Amino acid sequence: MGRGFRFIFATSLLLTLLDLCNGSNIGVCYGRNADDLPTPDKVAQLVQLHNIKYVRIYDSNIQVLKAFANTGVELMIGVTNADLLPFSQFQSNADTWLKNSILPYYPATKITIITIGSEVTEAPNNVSASVVPAMKNVLTALRKAGLHKKIKVSSTHSLGVLSRSFPPSAGAFNSSHAFFLKPMLEFLAENQSPFMIDIYPYYAYRDSLTNVSLDYALFKSSSEVIDPNTGLLYTNMFDAQIDALYFALMALNFRTIKIMVTETGWPTKGSPKETAATPDNAQIYNTNLIRHVLNDSGTPAKPGEELDVYIFSLFNENRKPGIESERNWGLFYPDQTSVYNLDFTGRGALDTPTESNITSSNATTWCIASNKSSERDLQNALDWACGSGNVDCTAIQPSQPCYEPDNLASHASYAFNSYYQQNGATDVACSFGGSGIRVDKDPSYDKCIYMSARSNKTIASNTTAISSTSSYARNKIPPACFSSLILATFILLLLKISHA
Ligand SMILES: *[C@@H]1O[C@H](CO)[C@@H](O)[C@H](O)[C@H]1NC(C)=O
Ligand SMILES: *[C@@H]1O[C@H](CO)[C@@H](O)[C@H](O)[C@H]1NC(C)=O
Ligand SMILES: *[C@@H]1O[C@H](CO)[C@@H](O)[C@H](O)[C@H]1NC(C)=O
Ligand SMILES: *[C@@H]1O[C@H](CO)[C@@H](O)[C@H](O)[C@H]1NC(C)=O
Ligand SMILES: *[C@@H]1O[C@H](CO)[C@@H](O)[C@H](O)[C@H]1NC(C)=O
Ligand SMILES: *[C@@H]1O[C@H](CO)[C@@H](O)[C@H](O)[C@H]1NC(C)=O
Ligand SMILES: *[C@@H]1O[C@H](CO)[C@@H](O)[C@H](O)[C@H]1NC(C)=O
Ligand SMILES: *[C@@H]1O[C@H](CO)[C@@H](O)[C@H](O)[C@H]1NC(C)=O
Ligand SMILES: *[C@@H]1O[C@H](CO)[C@@H](O)[C@H](O)[C@H]1NC(C)=O
Repeated sequence: MGRGFRFIFATSLLLTLLDLCNGSNIGVCYGRNADDLPTPDKVAQLVQLHNIKYVRIYDSNIQVLKAFANTGVELMIGVTNADLLPFSQFQSNADTWLKNSILPYYPATKITIITIGSEVTEAPNNVSASVVPAMKNVLTALRKAGLHKKIKVSSTHSLGVLSRSFPPSAGAFNSSHAFFLKPMLEFLAENQSPFMIDIYPYYAYRDSLTNVSLDYALFKSSSEVIDPNTGLLYTNMFDAQIDALYFALMALNFRTIKIMVTETGWPTKGSPKETAATPDNAQIYNTNLIRHVLNDSGTPAKPGEELDVYIFSLFNENRKPGIESERNWGLFYPDQTSVYNLDFTGRGALDTPTESNITSSNATTWCIASNKSSERDLQNALDWACGSGNVDCTAIQPSQPCYEPDNLASHASYAFNSYYQQNGATDVACSFGGSGIRVDKDPSYDKCIYMSARSNKTIASNTTAISSTSSYARNKIPPACFSSLILATFILLLLKISHA
């Protein structure tokens, strides 16, 4: 090997291996089939406040793309089923869309994935036939713009693409879809794009009460299922469904394609027959899901495999047709309050902090802005506290007692503390996406009096809760990454030796 080549080789190898070091990620789907949602700008603030770093939208709405500009949030955008036919027929349609609807907002808005059609096998009018040609045309358009390495192209599926999913080792694609699935799998393998699947243990449980236990659907490992062919032990249905897909891919010899879960979740309300659709179950499902995913534990067939998962959905969507549960998958109500608390770190306790002992004990604590937060995080959190957080921010207005010192940290501290005291003085209420810290010294000064548990014994609303610090700034190294780091070090050493 020539020296230059060797260097380039080593560097690109290292970069490729480091690419594996991201760990699994949790994102949230931002469906907008509702007439009462906050504006995209407000939604972008809410998303940032909760430290959600990955968001899936179903189209390429310009207001949404603009709202997420410079937020650092990675967006998955979509070409809808209705656009598949024109996108498949003419390259120029894909080119024009990219030029007019995407490029003006890129890269300020961090678009990383484009889904071409969604769950086409469930859609009417046989749109499946258009999906692969449309994917190819979008990829060609991206290549012309030099973005084919930065933006991935794929398409989402329901578990209905499989004709068998139990036991997982018998997972197989429904052969009636082969006419478009086979070229799609070739496309995905060639372009290192993931196979996207929407997975709903909720439906499996609801539609098969007798055979599926609620615990199994909710990741409560009390119930276990053994795959008789492989001997693999399944403690939850999510893993079993993913593995069914792995085995289906392997049966067709597509061993390199990764899986991405583009939707999963649990509804909080349903029709009278849907007894499992409750806030408690939704909280348990999503809490356990987040822990399971961020732990990089993989599945029984692919232990340690990283898996990116998008939770459905950000908001309850009142215009969705169908039974009651359809409109109740949200983590948030349209007024931006939480339907239930969800800890995106995967570390917190499961219980909902409704009351705190702090208010009843003698110890008093306050919540102020952390000096480690960025200005942007502080500003977002301050705006949120004084807006949706319902804090009275009069005291930090000009000429009011807490206006001076006129700086962000001081104003944020005042607002954070008021929110904290009004919401039970719990850990969660002082989180602000990692921007708040609790202190035991009264921050009041001069005429600026900070609210305290003693000055306000009322424990207010328990609906608004902030998830705590970022799940994404985890400091543990995922296993896949760890081994690739060792491998990379080893190879670099070898190269060094052979060079010397
Ligand atoms: C859909 O279109 C494909 C390709 O044109 C065809 O092979 C398939 O039979 C059609 N399926 C249905 C249900 O019409
Ligand atoms: C396979 O797909 C076809 C067409 O959508 C459907 O009619 C059939 O029931 C499916 N078979 C299985 C086993 O799911
Ligand atoms: C339950 O499992 C049995 C045996 O595995 C199977 O025959 C039956 O069809 C299943 N019932 C449902 C509703 O899935
Ligand atoms: C990760 O998950 C595995 C299996 O579910 C569990 O045994 C392990 O304790 C978890 N590790 C952490 C750090 O949560
Ligand atoms: C509150 O404190 C009391 C006394 O310290 C303790 O017995 C009780 O378990 C605590 N309650 C909660 C919810 O932590
Ligand atoms: C807490 O306050 C009560 C009355 O306000 C007092 O009697 C008690 O001694 C205090 N306890 C501690 C540990 O300070
Ligand atoms: C940040 O806050 C901590 C704890 O409140 C304090 O010990 C530290 O000195 C502060 N650092 C700066 C740079 O102000
Ligand atoms: C205490 O909190 C409640 C609920 O937010 C609020 O309405 C009230 O004004 C507060 N009282 C004081 C003295 O701050
Ligand atoms: C607080 O929670 C309780 C029990 O979970 C519930 O009954 C009550 O409606 C909630 N309060 C508000 C303001 O939503």
